Amino acid sequence: MREIRAAVIPSSGYPTVIETLNLANPGPGEVLVRMTSSGVCHSDLHVRDGHWVRPGPIVMGHEGAGIVEAVGAGVDPALVGRSAALSWYAPCLRCRECQRGRQWLCSGSPALGHAQADGTSRLTRADGSPVLSYLAIGTMASWQVVPETAVVPMPDGVPAEVAALIGCGVSTGVGAVVKTAEVPAGASVVVIGVGGVGLSCVMGAKLAGAGRIVAVDLNPAKLDLAADLGATHRVLADAADGAKTVAAIRAAAGAGGPDFVFEAIGNPATIAQAIAALPPGGTAVLVGLTRYGQQASFEAFPFVDGGRRILGSNYGSAVAAVDFPRYAEAYLAGRLPIERLIDRRLDLDDLEDAFDRLRAGQAARQMVMHPA
Ligand code: APR
Ligand code: ZN
Repeated sequence: MREIRAAVIPSSGYPTVIETLNLANPGPGEVLVRMTSSGVCHSDLHVRDGHWVRPGPIVMGHEGAGIVEAVGAGVDPALVGRSAALSWYAPCLRCRECQRGRQWLCSGSPALGHAQADGTSRLTRADGSPVLSYLAIGTMASWQVVPETAVVPMPDGVPAEVAALIGCGVSTGVGAVVKTAEVPAGASVVVIGVGGVGLSCVMGAKLAGAGRIVAVDLNPAKLDLAADLGATHRVLADAADGAKTVAAIRAAAGAGGPDFVFEAIGNPATIAQAIAALPPGGTAVLVGLTRYGQQASFEAFPFVDGGRRILGSNYGSAVAAVDFPRYAEAYLAGRLPIERLIDRRLDLDDLEDAFDRLRAGQAARQMVMHPA
C-alpha cells in the first residue's frame, strides 16, 4: 500500500480534482507502475465534459507510460525496472476476438469495467471507498496498478513522453493508416483534423510512402505542424461551408481524387465531408469518435454505384504487444518523429488548464509529466 496523487473526476461532466489516494499492491496478473508521462487526449475531454458517460469516481488518463516497479503473482519478474508504454485496451487473450488476433475488439478486457480483471480497483480514498481507473490504467496518477496485458516494454532510448504517445494517439493514427486501411505506397491521402490523432495519421501516411498527404484543419498553426510532419498539401477548412471544404480537398488531392480520407475529429459534419470527398473506389476511414448518439449521413446511390468504402478504425487495429515496439523502433530510426507532436509539458495540477486549451482546439499534444 502506498499514497499516490491522481486526477479524479467524481463522475463524467465534472472538473478534475487532484486527490491523494491509497494504492494497494498488485494482485495476481497485475503490475505496479511508477507513471512517468500521460498525454491529454481528446477522449479524456469527452469523459471530463460528459459527452461520454463513465462511472465515477474515476482516475483520468489513458495515454501513458511508466517504469515497472513490482509485479503480482504469475507475472514475469523480468519486467521489473523496464520502461513501458501502457495499452488502454488490455486484452483478455481468451475471447473469440483475441483468439483471432483482433485484440482491439476484445470482449473481455478489464478496460470495459475501468478496474482490474477481477472487477475491483486497487485505489481507495482515505475513507476506504473505491476509486476506478479509466480503461483500467488511469494514467493521470503518480503510480498505478494495471493489468499485465496492458504493459508493453519499450526498447532502450525511447523517452517517457514518446512511449506515452505510442499508448494512444500514435497507435490510433499511425495504425489507422498502416494497419486498418493498409495504405499502399503512392496513394493520395487526406487527413481531416490534425490534432494529436490526425497528425499521427499524417506520420503514418508518410511512413507508408503516400504520394500526396493533404492536411485539413480550421487552425492554420495545426496545418504548419502537419506540413512539418510530412503533409504535402494543406486545406484551411471553412467551418461554415462544408461544400467549399470538400471542393478544396478534392483539388488538393490530385487528379484522381483522394484514395483515402481519414476523419480524425469525430464530428458528423466532417465525417460527411470525408465521404463526400471520395472519388469512385475511394475509402473513408473514420478514426475520430463522436459524442454518443450522433449520426452521419451520405447519399447512398453514388456511394454504392462508385464502389466506395467506409472503414471504422478503433485504436488503429492495435495489437499492442506487437505494434507498440514496432512504432518505438520506427521512432528510434527517425521515421516516426513522435516528439514533434508535443507542444506543452505540464504538472498534474495544471490539467484543467490543459483541457481548456484542448477544448479550444489550440493544443497539439500536451503531456503531463509525473515527477520522479
Ligand atoms: N474542420 C476541420 N478541422 C477541425 C474541425 C472542422 N470542422 N473541428 C475541429 N477541427 C480540428 C481541430 O482544430 C483540431 O486540430 O480537429 C483537431 C482535433 O484534434 P484534438 O482536439 O487534438 O483531438 P485528438 O486528441 O486528436 O482526437 C481526435 O480521435 O480518439 C478520438 O476521441 C478522440 O474524437 C477524438 C478524435
Ligand atoms: Zn486517446
